Amino acid sequence: MSEQKKISLARGAPSLDIIAVDELRAAADRAFERDPGGVFSYGTSKGYPRLVEWIAGKQDVSEDQVIATNGSMQADAFLFQQLIEPGDVVVVEAPTYDRTLLALREMGAEILAIPLREDGIDVEALASALEGGARPKLAHVIPNFQNPAGYTLSLEKRRRLLELAAEHGFVIFEDDPYVELRFEGESLPTMLSLDEGESVVYASSFSKTVCPGIRVGYLAGPEKLIGSIRTKATNTYISPNMVAQAIVAEFCLSGSIESSIETVKAALRERRDATCSALEKHLPDATFARPEGGYFLWVDLPDGSDAERLAEESAKRGVVFTKGADFMLEGGEDSLRIAYSGVKPDEIEEAIGRVAEARAELVG
Ligand SMILES: Cc1ncc(COP(=O)(O)O)c(C=O)c1O
Repeated sequence: MSEQKKISLARGAPSLDIIAVDELRAAADRAFERDPGGVFSYGTSKGYPRLVEWIAGKQDVSEDQVIATNGSMQADAFLFQQLIEPGDVVVVEAPTYDRTLLALREMGAEILAIPLREDGIDVEALASALEGGARPKLAHVIPNFQNPAGYTLSLEKRRRLLELAAEHGFVIFEDDPYVELRFEGESLPTMLSLDEGESVVYASSFSKTVCPGIRVGYLAGPEKLIGSIRTKATNTYISPNMVAQAIVAEFCLSGSIESSIETVKAALRERRDATCSALEKHLPDATFARPEGGYFLWVDLPDGSDAERLAEESAKRGVVFTKGADFMLEGGEDSLRIAYSGVKPDEIEEAIGRVAEARAELVG
């Protein structure tokens, strides 16, 4: 087989052509000019003040309820360290983000996986588990354009989850890095904004709308919990990266973030469309739900298809994707995740064509 161009459908990251490099350079210039003292010194663990102020305004919370971190993964890690002891029960969606599963396993959490439907986590399955005696401390939910499935949690289910959290005393961890990337349909309120108590800790990130290399994300939640996490953060790294956060602050305050989001959305919408068309053309027995936004799409193949072998065979043809089983404790053997975020439409068509060839070879 001749060497073919490598195409990755595995990475949940934007391609370089949709990153606002010039606007980021301009934001850096302005940040360095305006506030060299703040930008180049340590800062405090809450994050760069102008960014924290912007985030608090956006989420309609007080600044004391926010901590800006080095990417939202860091925020997740702080939250887990703060709340989870070995043996604690944590609810996750099945499938869910593989790094969350890894982090929770490392903490020694007992993972309660609840099936994910096209309109979000199966809240009635969760209610039954709670009635049956499950006592989770935390429920991790990715409400918009979920990683890995691309599904979005309905408004009704958002309300039901809040009810269950209040009734059974667990925290909802609303992990929401894709919220801004809606191509169509109606935006839904965050659970953070719907919560009348203190049940929700919200996380988001600039990785998917600005660029992942800048490593800026945040948590917003109850003041006392955020205060404890700030103390933990101080002891971990004194302060997050002030240079990066100051650049993001300028980027947001100048309005560059809006045009960046529009660029990313326009490109991703085309890539989503190309993915759906290529799947219909090359893998007609595959089933999938067309995501209304975000980076990912989940594909179910007929029973016995074996996505792991398909991944190996596709890799020989220069195409990589992530097999479904990586996002679950059990199951997912006939499924795969396609990340269309980093590839142009013609490459998507080419890549899915090669996956179909690999499949034909396996089926014989
Ligand atoms: C659901 C979810 N949470 C968190 C992250 C981590 O994002 P960050 O780059 O902000 O650390 C990702 C990245 O893919 C993600 O999909």
